[in-house]
Amino acid sequence: MAVATRPTEKTRFFKSSPRALLINGKSEQAESGKTFDTLNPATATVLASVAEGDAHDIDRAVRAARRAFENGPWSRMTPSERGQIMHRIGDLIMEHADELAELDCLDNGKALSVARAADVPLAADLFWYMAGWATKLNGGTITPSVPYLPGAEFHAYTLREPVGVVGQIIPWNFPLLMAAWKLGPALATGCTVVLKPAEQTPLSALRLGELMLEAGLPDGVVNVVTGFGETAGAALASHPGVDKIAFTGSTEVGRLIATAATGNLKKVSLELGGKSPNIIFSDADIDAAVAGAAQGIFFNQGEVCCAGSRLFVQQDRFDEVVEGVAKAAKQIKVGPGMDPDSDMGPLVSREQFDRVTGYLAKGQQAGNRALAGGHALDRPGYFVEPTVLVDVEPNDVVLREEIFGPVIVALPFSDVDDLARQANDTVYGLAAGVWTQDISKAHKLAKRIKAGTVWVNTYNVFSAELPFGGFKQSGWGREMGEEVLSSYLETKSVIVQL
Ligand code: NAI
Ligand code: MG
Repeated sequence: MAVATRPTEKTRFFKSSPRALLINGKSEQAESGKTFDTLNPATATVLASVAEGDAHDIDRAVRAARRAFENGPWSRMTPSERGQIMHRIGDLIMEHADELAELDCLDNGKALSVARAADVPLAADLFWYMAGWATKLNGGTITPSVPYLPGAEFHAYTLREPVGVVGQIIPWNFPLLMAAWKLGPALATGCTVVLKPAEQTPLSALRLGELMLEAGLPDGVVNVVTGFGETAGAALASHPGVDKIAFTGSTEVGRLIATAATGNLKKVSLELGGKSPNIIFSDADIDAAVAGAAQGIFFNQGEVCCAGSRLFVQQDRFDEVVEGVAKAAKQIKVGPGMDPDSDMGPLVSREQFDRVTGYLAKGQQAGNRALAGGHALDRPGYFVEPTVLVDVEPNDVVLREEIFGPVIVALPFSDVDDLARQANDTVYGLAAGVWTQDISKAHKLAKRIKAGTVWVNTYNVFSAELPFGGFKQSGWGREMGEEVLSSYLETKSVIVQL
């Protein structure tokens, strides 16, 4: 077990700790000289130390990004040249796939096999996909009608230009992949970036920064400032030199970001929390639905913004389904992510562990019954059992609040109207799952659910081509797909009198 929690030679990268910030293509320590530790959550011991950037370092990074945007070779490159660099970034991610997977496994806790199979290839694919958009950001030609200038003739067209310097603040649940989701569209559109990774998981973003330089990205185009949310993050969100802020994380901090952005009215996009319904009808393929419900909540320790955390099962199959999900939960091998036998790793941090176990205690007080799990594991590290809760009332906190851990709450429903009301009875609207063999029912329900993604007979399927984001308090705007590009572009109308 000792071996299975330790870094291997692949992650030599962070052994030269403290790891520095990346500003203007150079490794720089924080101006304050301060550093902070990032932990391995499987052992609760120090993994590496990292520069603790604050407002001064954010300011240096924003100025570097501004210079790169206004004067640098980046802004003079052709779209094709930009796309080629982005393609190389995707290639380099795959060439370093084992190393990057190990970094995220050690820093976040997730199973190495999951990081290697999902996080890393998805990150590479995002860059490849977005690389193609660099050459396709076209405006249009328009013939304007101007009633107060009779007889005048015009030729008009639109240009789509990068919004400018972008601040990006990302969470710890998919450290590399969240960096890719954010950086891809920024680079495709020709923006420059200051990226602030989560303080719990700073390592893979710093390594990605090095790989980006190796791919030929000019200095200052992507700057990585590691540090805490209240200092570095807040400074980035309020910085007057930043034209747009993109954030993924808690709804609570999303509100702070939106408020901080009002100073210079920078553009804001937010990808926030969820309490997504996963819905199983009696006519579903029950084996597939049970497996999908378990995967929908237990994937990545349940630390997934779109986790299917509310399970709705049609009354007559309720017992069968929840017992099936409980059985699946009990079969999951929880252990250090580096151990090849582990299906599920620890939670990311002491804070997250306390949060999730706090919800388990509240559930117990409210009389929610655990069909599986319900406790932390008695061992070092932040391990929590995969948990299935039943006997839940509409106002129970475990049903209403995002837990962000391996905890699913199951309720029965009678008919579609009853179900649609319950499914939409949340402040969130990120995702939903529907399991049925009746295709009309599935499509009708997909329309009624207020969520940015609806999966039918599957769950947690992500693709660079598909927009992802939230209705209601799950956010503003979309990540990925063609849709994300508009949030990194300004449209300019040019009107010529002929
Ligand atoms: P958080 O929202 O505090 O952290 C996300 C990012 O925001 C980190 O980079 C952090 O440094 C930064 N940040 C924190 N405070 C900030 C501020 N005042 N100004 C600017 N940036 C700031 O999330 P946290 O505390 O790590 O997790 C709490 C809960 O948030 C989780 O239990 C979960 O419910 C939710 N969450 C949702 C995520 C999602 O993917 N939508 C990801 C991570 C957490
Ligand atoms: Mg860590």
